[in-house]
Amino acid sequence: MNGVFAMNQAMGLEGMLRALAERHGKQAPSHDQAFGLARPPARRRCRAIAVAGGKGGVGKTTISVNLGMSLAMAGHEVILLDADMGLANIDVLLGLTPTRHIGHLLDGSCGIEDLLLTGPHGLKVVPAGSGTRRLAQLSNNEHAAVIRAFDDLAVPPDYLLVDTAAGLSDNVAMFAAAADDVVLVVCDEPASLTDAYAVLKVLSRDFGVRRFRMVANMVRNAGEARALHQKLARVCDRFLDVALEFMGMVPQDERLRQAIRRQSAVVDLWPASRSAEAFKQLAGAVDTWGEPERLALDRIAFFSRQAAAATGW
Ligand SMILES: Nc1ncnc2c1ncn2[C@@H]1O[C@H](COP(=O)(O)OP(=O)(O)OP(=O)(O)O)[C@@H](O)[C@H]1O
Ligand SMILES: [Mg+2]
Repeated sequence: MNGVFAMNQAMGLEGMLRALAERHGKQAPSHDQAFGLARPPARRRCRAIAVAGGKGGVGKTTISVNLGMSLAMAGHEVILLDADMGLANIDVLLGLTPTRHIGHLLDGSCGIEDLLLTGPHGLKVVPAGSGTRRLAQLSNNEHAAVIRAFDDLAVPPDYLLVDTAAGLSDNVAMFAAAADDVVLVVCDEPASLTDAYAVLKVLSRDFGVRRFRMVANMVRNAGEARALHQKLARVCDRFLDVALEFMGMVPQDERLRQAIRRQSAVVDLWPASRSAEAFKQLAGAVDTWGEPERLALDRIAFFSRQAAAATGW
């Protein structure tokens, strides 16, 4: 029997193309490439960015909301996932009133699209639900189901920002490890530094995350922010196999607290304030990042189906 035909029957068309390409030491063509079909223009891959920090109250949610809104104001499609399951508060911070949350997604009563709330400047929010013990105790399979649900979005956003909970639970680790980038929020307090170090250690040792970006929050100036970064980066260099890049800083700003009391993002309410300027710079930094490193395809990751498609399969 013709060898190629036998392969075709056993593996299906895609498998056959792959095997043939591998045999000839080439990258396998995509289905469309192989048959000369026109492809739609390549869309930039959605980038999932997790915001973590370990310690409670260091500003993870504040930074997620204002960075997300700054990116939306710059014209990007942005979804903000409140991954602080059971203690969600992004909807409250933005004055939104969700009728459904992640719990409804998990019990199958709605899909991911049904959860999307639209905030100012078109920022979309996926609320996590608050005051529900069950949500605070999700199994790892359920976390994985939430992560995979984003594959079902008809139109993936440019950026998915994931606001993680305090601490180092499986919940935090899974959401952070499923993202393309992890932004670590650190304040100039001993407990913030030690908790940030613990996050770096666990995510690198147990989840293979090697690159982190640090935002210094509630600092007085850029010098203080840089010094904070150096302090943490020095310990990382000595004891961990990770790269901790400096991403930027957000100053201590009373305007930011006032905006929160008004259930608004400071970048929306007072765009000329010191903190709003800082958030715009952080958003500008995100825009300059190169393509995300490709996560292993067997890893539980946001938009893994899309990433697989981007490689031509
Ligand atoms: N740069 C800043 N200037 C002034 N206040 C700030 C700043 N960043 C955060 N805050 C204040 O700190 C408080 C905690 O912030 P936030 O809720 O964002 O922290 P968190 O890390 O998400 O906390 P949790 O771990 O409980 O989720 C908020 O009341 C917020 O107003
Ligand atoms: Mg928070």
